[in-house]
Amino acid sequence: MLSVAVVGSGPSGVYTAQALLQQSLVPDVRVHVLDRLPTPYGLVRYGVAPDHEKIKSLQNSLRAVLEDERVTFVGNVGVGGADGVSPARLAELYHAVVYCVGASADRALAVPGESLPGSYSATRFVSWYSAHPDIGADPFARDALGARSAVVIGVGNVAVDVARILARGAGELRRTDVPRAALRALEESRVRDVHIVGRRGPSQARFTTKELRELGALPGARVAVDPTELALDPAYAAPDGLPGALPLPAVVRRNLEVLRGWSAGSGAVPGGAPGSADAGRRIRLRFFLRPVELLERGGRVAGVRFARTAPDGSGGVRDTGRYEDIEAQLVLRAVGYRGVELPGLPFDPVRGTVPHAAGRVLRGGVPSPGEYVAGWIKRGPTGVIGSNRSCAKETVTSLLADAAALTRRTAADDPLAVLREWGLRPVEWAGWLSIERAEAELGRSLGRGPVKIPDWAGLLSAARDEHP
Ligand SMILES: Cc1cc2nc3c(=O)[nH]c(=O)nc-3n(C[C@H](O)[C@H](O)[C@H](O)COP(=O)(O)OP(=O)(O)OC[C@H]3O[C@@H](n4cnc5c(N)ncnc54)[C@H](O)[C@@H]3O)c2cc1C
Ligand SMILES: NC(=O)c1ccc[n+]([C@@H]2O[C@H](COP(=O)([O-])OP(=O)(O)OC[C@H]3O[C@@H](n4cnc5c(N)ncnc54)[C@H](OP(=O)(O)O)[C@@H]3O)[C@@H](O)[C@H]2O)c1
Repeated sequence: MLSVAVVGSGPSGVYTAQALLQQSLVPDVRVHVLDRLPTPYGLVRYGVAPDHEKIKSLQNSLRAVLEDERVTFVGNVGVGGADGVSPARLAELYHAVVYCVGASADRALAVPGESLPGSYSATRFVSWYSAHPDIGADPFARDALGARSAVVIGVGNVAVDVARILARGAGELRRTDVPRAALRALEESRVRDVHIVGRRGPSQARFTTKELRELGALPGARVAVDPTELALDPAYAAPDGLPGALPLPAVVRRNLEVLRGWSAGSGAVPGGAPGSADAGRRIRLRFFLRPVELLERGGRVAGVRFARTAPDGSGGVRDTGRYEDIEAQLVLRAVGYRGVELPGLPFDPVRGTVPHAAGRVLRGGVPSPGEYVAGWIKRGPTGVIGSNRSCAKETVTSLLADAAALTRRTAADDPLAVLREWGLRPVEWAGWLSIERAEAELGRSLGRGPVKIPDWAGLLSAARDEHP
């Protein structure tokens, strides 16, 4: 029997468990999926936007894996932290450990004024509206949503997500699982202008077309794009292809078509009834503007100073010596996520990942027996949910190739009993089901569908079926 711990119950952790179940090389496998949170699914629960119900429903296929009789969910057990279990001790309990801990921190912008009140990472904003218990009912958003003008820095899918939540009426979010405090703050939001700003051109933007198009379908919001800014982009200016250049990737071509439509004035959005409660929101997509400083007034952010850039002919940009200030009382920095060092595991601080060879963790450049890695902490913070499936498969292929040697190592008969002896209080699947029931009950009492519990105490008491 091969006993494996998977650390992290996000997509990469669950796909790792699934790949272990679906193989035939080692028929007798037991998988414990550990998570520091009492809730499963990682960023599918705490990142995917609440109004993306179809993607959220992927939880159902992840659930089927976690409910397999060979799999045990072990929530509320952190690895590597002060209150958790160290990688060295965990290795005593299982034949192999696969780290699938994601990349939870935000990348810094590294410009003056970045930490002024009113300037937040998109990571924090996302965690807030997703009810991540580390953020709780953070009062920052009430303060932040008092802004009339917001700048979102970055043109990836996270930038589009946060801009959409800012521009979407709270009324529409009532049907989602957004926690109460966030819904209330969004209802009272004064934000009217949302500027999404890229330092390079539209053909280098990282958002995908479906997500871009959604901005144009928000009731009561208008999208505007400046045609002169688009025209700076050589690929935009020469839609039939640049002489001697490779054909544009399909996603870039589609993005440019959507932007072309908006710049031609078709940004008026069906369903945006003037006079409705949500009317009058404007989303402006800006390009070739590199942030150089966050401007301050009265101790708070008052805007962003950008250097005007121009294409350098090879996909990058150069500064032109000109500047533009955009007024904003709220700045969300959506410039990417970053892996966090897990004490006791090797870490590459430049890439923000665990060094590995085909998923085998490298210590001093050499594969460390029984230690593996998958997902964002292996590849870095890019890729959609599905990308983690092939990533997990590669790791499991390496693990299975090592299986004969791994099963010669000792493993605990009952790792959960040992974790309890070490003072940990795991939340198992039944505990998670209790949380789900409590969230459904909370939603019913508010006349909504399930509503997320946003704090540790609430989640843990729900998991233990305690009624305060
Ligand atoms: C804001 C946002 C929105 C997104 N929206 C979409 C979308 O709509 N569609 C799409 O296809 N992709 C989306 N993605 C991408 C997708 O979420 C990722 O590809 C995917 O979640 C990465 O999976 P992962 O398992 O590596 O990490 P995660 O999903 O982050 O899972 C990591 C898990 O590890 C746990 N963990 C962390 N540290 C420890 C520890 N020390 N001990 C124990 N457990 C630990 C965490 O609690 C978490 O449950 C989005 C990403 C972000 C950031
Ligand atoms: N609906 C979905 O499918 C969905 C939703 C959310 C996230 N995701 C996925 O999750 C992953 C992470 O998304 P993400 O948006 O966090 O990251 P991302 O796709 O890497 O985008 C980051 C953006 O920040 C910009 N940026 C980086 N450093 C900057 C700086 N110093 N100044 C100004 N701009 C800077 C980048 O510009 P440069 O290109 O110039 O570096 C880029 O536009 C992606 O793979 C994404 O597709 C998917």
